[in-house]
Amino acid sequence: MTSDEILKGLETRWLGRRIYAYETLDSTNDTAFQLARQGAAEGECVISEYQKKGRGRHGRVWLSPRGQGILLSMILRPPISPAETAKLTLVTGVALVKTAKMTLGRPFGIKWPNDVVFKDKKIGGILTEMRGEPDRVHYVIVGVGVNVNSLPAELPEGATSLRAIAGAEVPRLLFLREFLRQFEEDYGRFKSGHFKELAREWEELSATSGRRVSARTAGRSIDGQALGIDEEGALWIRTDNGLQERVLAGDIEHLR
Ligand code: BTN
Repeated sequence: MTSDEILKGLETRWLGRRIYAYETLDSTNDTAFQLARQGAAEGECVISEYQKKGRGRHGRVWLSPRGQGILLSMILRPPISPAETAKLTLVTGVALVKTAKMTLGRPFGIKWPNDVVFKDKKIGGILTEMRGEPDRVHYVIVGVGVNVNSLPAELPEGATSLRAIAGAEVPRLLFLREFLRQFEEDYGRFKSGHFKELAREWEELSATSGRRVSARTAGRSIDGQALGIDEEGALWIRTDNGLQERVLAGDIEHLR
């Protein structure tokens, strides 16, 4: 995908109006960080056909066969505190799931905090990273990886692709343009103080709420029923002994 191809038909006002497109990078998030440090404006994006060191959350790797996926990093400069970047990840998840539902007409869901899943198989992930001071974000890099046309056999266990779900190739360009349009809209709502509404949308799209889950957080594990998220995007779990626990960051497994 080239920047010109994406721009043709892109319906955004400011997001993705400047896209740095590469064949190979270590990680689009790393390149976006460099650009942001050099002063790149909010909305500038980096994409690549392949990453040599694609990163996932918690130090994991993100593998995507060359030319088959969407590997995108968006440079954002929201006027928020570092603690609020978790909300931004949820907003991105909402925009990504809506894009997948709209493009394929299938029931995609969000696995807390930000995996896009179809029947418990992962098709997309989000890695939000930031630089800032304790009370102020300088910039946030929101990295988005989507398995579009890869074959499930080429992907890690537990993952699938849009193509495998649709039974036909899915145009990456259309998906990317629609995601950028949707994210611009939802990020605008977030910035104008409507996170509550977006959190409600998250609940509706959640593949986690109501499920039995096991959460690993700060070195311990919490098992129970996922109740939903609160205004900070933290997940509430009712444990087997009836306690309600709050998990702000971490990873969960859907059980059963
Ligand atoms: C996760 O599910 O753990 C998050 C995966 C995020 C992957 C994307 S691909 C584009 C961007 N660059 C990276 O190195 N990672 C993110």
